[in-house]
Amino acid sequence: MLVGGKGTRLRPLTLSAPKPLLPTAGVPFLAHQLARAAAAGITHVVLATSYRAEMFTEAFGDGSALGLFIDYVYEPTPLGTGGGIRNAAGLLRGGPDDPVVVLNGDILSGHDLAAQVDLHRDHGAAVTLHLVKVDDPARYGVVPTGAAGRVTAFLEKKANPPTNKINAGCYVFRRSVIDEIPAGRPVSVERETFPALIEADAVVMGYASDTYWLDVGTPEAFVRGSCDVVLGHLLSPAMPGECGEALLLASATVADDARVTGGTVLGVGSRVGNGAVVHGSVVFDSAAIGAGAVVRDSIVGRGARIGDGAALTGVVIGDDAVVGPGNELMHGARVWPGVRLEQTSIRFSSDA
Ligand code: GTP
Repeated sequence: MLVGGKGTRLRPLTLSAPKPLLPTAGVPFLAHQLARAAAAGITHVVLATSYRAEMFTEAFGDGSALGLFIDYVYEPTPLGTGGGIRNAAGLLRGGPDDPVVVLNGDILSGHDLAAQVDLHRDHGAAVTLHLVKVDDPARYGVVPTGAAGRVTAFLEKKANPPTNKINAGCYVFRRSVIDEIPAGRPVSVERETFPALIEADAVVMGYASDTYWLDVGTPEAFVRGSCDVVLGHLLSPAMPGECGEALLLASATVADDARVTGGTVLGVGSRVGNGAVVHGSVVFDSAAIGAGAVVRDSIVGRGARIGDGAALTGVVIGDDAVVGPGNELMHGARVWPGVRLEQTSIRFSSDA
């Protein structure tokens, strides 16, 4: 599992924790992937770490709590997707022809991982990529396939692409292909390894699926992913509770006349005050939402405080930040950790 990225698009949340460890539907994001891997019969996982590497060991240890053996490798300087996979090669336990599943650490996917491995074996492929169809393929590099699902090219982002299938960030490699990736320097699988395999006429297969898939790299997608798991749109064996409109972790409290809906998670010890509305949001541990506040499609960081009557829509509030009473923050606003936005003090002459 590739978990070494800095997660810059999710700042400021990723200043204190790497993206794969951000609380998602009540557990670190990666727990959902690890649980799905275990459910697909995987027993040994290597986490390819770089940014905030020590936090992964603290979170998952040797993996025994999840029924897995987890090993860790570290890149002092990030080696990119291909370099990260190569760096993990020394810890892989299979033989040269055995399949190795590689997952990007920021994907929520409901596809049948075991079926992807079966397709890979059946075709004796060098690599088998999970592919998903998107509505807006011009925003991505696309992956056209030919007869029987064989990948024919990796095309860069362009207008009017010939297919709507994109690389979904989950690969099955033949072990020997990983050993051939150059060691000790940055390599991108998307830009270097896969195009070179196709050029060399190696068998690169596409496993296309229509099941749930989401890249949680942006704040909007991150919130949506968490809510989708809570709502049960993607069933995750790691979800700590029943699916429904809200997931309340230990000692979270909600005033009787407050409404918490849309797959919201309330973290450990968080509080929602009288008459507040929290919809489709992720509220981290120990955060507090004041009376009458309205929080929609937003992330409220650990220990952050949202004042009475404040209104937040589609925003990210960093850890321990304070949004004073009555403030209104809209789409895309991000408040850095510890920042205090006090009560609105601008007055207009007509107010007097
Ligand atoms: P952004 O900075 O917001 O683009 O996020 P990111 O750093 O996570 O990059 P991206 O979303 O492209 O990465 C996809 C996956 O690969 C994530 O799970 C990353 O953790 C992982 N990843 C990206 N670069 C590296 C790297 O250099 N080494 C390792 N081991 N993993 C990486």
